[in-house]
Amino acid sequence: MEQKKRILSLIQPTNTPHLGNYLGAMCNWVKMQEEFDCTYGIADLHSITVRQDPTKLRAQIKESYALLIAAGLDPEKSTLFVQGHNPNHSELAWILSCYTQFGELSRMTQFKDKSQKHPDNINAGLFTYPVLMAADILLYQADLVPVGVDQMQHLELARNIVQRFNGIYGDVFTMPEGYITKSTAKVMSLQDPTKKMSKSDENPNASVSILDDRDTIIRKFKRAVTDSETEVCAREGKDGIINLMSIYGAVAGKSFEDIEAEFKGKGYGDFKLAVGEAVADKLAPLQAEYKRLSEDKAYVEACMKSGAEKAYKISRKTLQKVQKKVGFVQL
Ligand code: TYM
Repeated sequence: MEQKKRILSLIQPTNTPHLGNYLGAMCNWVKMQEEFDCTYGIADLHSITVRQDPTKLRAQIKESYALLIAAGLDPEKSTLFVQGHNPNHSELAWILSCYTQFGELSRMTQFKDKSQKHPDNINAGLFTYPVLMAADILLYQADLVPVGVDQMQHLELARNIVQRFNGIYGDVFTMPEGYITKSTAKVMSLQDPTKKMSKSDENPNASVSILDDRDTIIRKFKRAVTDSETEVCAREGKDGIINLMSIYGAVAGKSFEDIEAEFKGKGYGDFKLAVGEAVADKLAPLQAEYKRLSEDKAYVEACMKSGAEKAYKISRKTLQKVQKKVGFVQL
């Protein structure tokens, strides 16, 4: 029997996931679990590269984990775990950091952006963050990594590490590839459609959290920045409208042609309302399931525990192989 392809992806527990995380990554995670052997996780180790409030972080890790299940990931079908519950990640990250060049890490745009945003806390973890991400991917021998486009540079670095490591020691790691849905690989801010939707945006109207209530969602879409024209179409220069069309297309299952035809002769007001309503409709079942899970903490905790055990077991094999290859003594 042919072995199923392996999938790995993580999300940081800093703030509730937004529509970009949901459409760019999580929706693909759910689709892929039917066909592939999937491991998904909460990247708590990554999140402390920026200072976090411990009480809030603890709550966010639990919330993010429950949201994976609420979004449709089945803990029986996929391995759902919290990164910090599996020590293999930090152990492999150390080893890989000795096979990653300072120059390579210096070129990472996310490092440059975050150093600019937090000039008082440019810590070593922020710098070596992509090595930990490579460890996440390589520990599970992932073939495909479903992410948004902002993570592609990090993935490219992981691929370079594989090439270098395998070049020295033979076939140790699988070469991972990115898995992206073009139309939603970069969901843009609702307030500035030239910037990506981001959890750290200070303007609350710029992003839609997947737990925002219906009225809030509709209000944010009504306020979305567009242009001074009136035609709903995907012409160059209409970044705001194109972003809304991509979101609407993804949640309502419509092509750009369908959308253009649907809103021919209608104004932006009607269009924005329709997008807001369609997003709210799409998120309603997830929100209801999340509410149900919030009342069943024992179940979520049990899933977390068995997910950690499964993740440890799969990844330990890779770590031991690596330790042997580099020349460590095994007891
Ligand atoms: P994070 O937590 O910032 O984002 C989680 C996922 O959401 C995608 N994403 C977007 N997609 C479309 N439009 C947007 N505006 C948007 N914003 C975010 C991200 O690309 C990501 O897929 N370093 C990663 C987490 C991570 C990881 C990994 C991912 C840690 N280890 C191993 C893959 C494999 C991060 O910070 O994602």
